Amino acid sequence: MYDPSHYQWFEQLFHSLMQDAATRQLFHQLARWDRYTSRHSFNVFVLGSLLAHRLKWPNIQEIASGLLLHDIGKTTVSRTVLMKTEAPIWTEWQPLKTHPRKGHDPLKANRFSANAISMAQEHHERLDGSGYPDEALASDLEDPARLLAVVDIYSALTLDRPYLQALSSYRAVHMIREEVGPLDPRYVRAFCELLGIFPQGPRCS
Ligand SMILES: [Fe+2]
Repeated sequence: MYDPSHYQWFEQLFHSLMQDAATRQLFHQLARWDRYTSRHSFNVFVLGSLLAHRLKWPNIQEIASGLLLHDIGKTTVSRTVLMKTEAPIWTEWQPLKTHPRKGHDPLKANRFSANAISMAQEHHERLDGSGYPDEALASDLEDPARLLAVVDIYSALTLDRPYLQALSSYRAVHMIREEVGPLDPRYVRAFCELLGIFPQGPRCS
C-alpha cells in the first residue's frame, strides 16, 4: 500500500468496477441499508483485491466484484438486527445466517460471474464443515471463497461493529492463524505476507 503503483492499480480497478451499472447500484443499495456492512465490504474489496493481485490471479475483475458484493444478501436482513448494539440473540441469528444464500438472487439476476456468486454463497463456509449456511466441506469450496473467508474475518475483527470494538491488526492476525484448518492455510499465509508490506505490520513465521 505504500508503493504508489499499488494505489494506481487499485484506483483503476475501482473505477472500472464502478463503471458497471449493476455493481454500482447494488453497492449503493448496500451502503444505504447498512453503513457498517458497506464499510466492511469496501475493506474486504481493497484487501482481497490486493491479495489476489499479489497471487497473480488472472480474473481480478470478477473476484473484485465478488469481494465488494459478498454481503449483498444482508439487504434482506432487518436493519434493526444489523444495527443492534448487543450481539444478536438466537432468533435474530437465524435470519442473519441466511445472508450468504440470499446473495445469490441479486447477483444471478444481474449476470455476475459464477465466481462472484459462489463467493457470496460460500464466504462463511469453513473447510472442516463448521461454517454456514450449508456446512459445506473443503471439496465444495472454490479458491475465491477460501481467500475471501480469510479477508472477511480480518476486516470484521478490525472494524468497530455496533456491538463490538475493533481489535488491533496484530491481534486479528493472531486469531486468524489459530483458525488454520477451518481456513485455507495457503491464504492465511499469503494474507499475512501481504500485511507484512505495511511497515511494522504483523509477520507470519
Ligand atoms: Fe457475510
